[in-house]
Amino acid sequence: MRLCFATNNDHKLTEVRALLPAGIELLSLRDIGCTEELPETRDTLEGNARQKAEYVWEHYHTACFADDTGLEVEALNGAPGVYSARYAGPQRSAADNMTRILTELQGQGNRRARFRTVVALILPDGQQHEFEGAVDGRITETAHGAEGFGYDPIFQPAGHDVTFAEMSLAQKNTLSHRARAVAGLVAFLRQAAPGS
Ligand code: IMP
Repeated sequence: MRLCFATNNDHKLTEVRALLPAGIELLSLRDIGCTEELPETRDTLEGNARQKAEYVWEHYHTACFADDTGLEVEALNGAPGVYSARYAGPQRSAADNMTRILTELQGQGNRRARFRTVVALILPDGQQHEFEGAVDGRITETAHGAEGFGYDPIFQPAGHDVTFAEMSLAQKNTLSHRARAVAGLVAFLRQAAPGS
């Protein structure tokens, strides 16, 4: 089965490619000729994931899936959540986003946080399905590590004493929010389309 992953984030593409069985041929947006920014204007992860997948389905008629991820910090009442990408402002970098969180948590004893991902799938016949994955952890006091992307340098998954950015891609893929959501997608495809 050919399936487009509707993302412009090469890190996500690499992570997810490593998680899919050989029977699924993963196409990037570039592969299907889509070079524009995908719309992402809803106020929930589910809404954004669905919006991105529906855009590709409607404009490119390609079976696809999209993900949307939020970092939910307990002491910030679940922020930045669905607004994680632009937490420090529309044109700001991942470093700016991390700095804002570290600043807001200064002196805060409760550093509990979780990453949550929703994956929205649209099959060749137009049927839609959703999968979710989450991982609990904590926000570190300072950034550590150079692997991964986004908030990885300040997120330490529960049961580990290193951040996601100090893990190899293979190790992050054994426990991450996205890997868990994609595991649901893969299990579903195996049962819906045996051989994939
Ligand atoms: P989106 O799913 O691409 O909209 O991501 C929202 C925000 O979360 C962006 O700032 C991403 O960089 C960040 N993000 C998404 N996935 C991860 C991850 O696996 N690790 C760290 N940050 C992530």
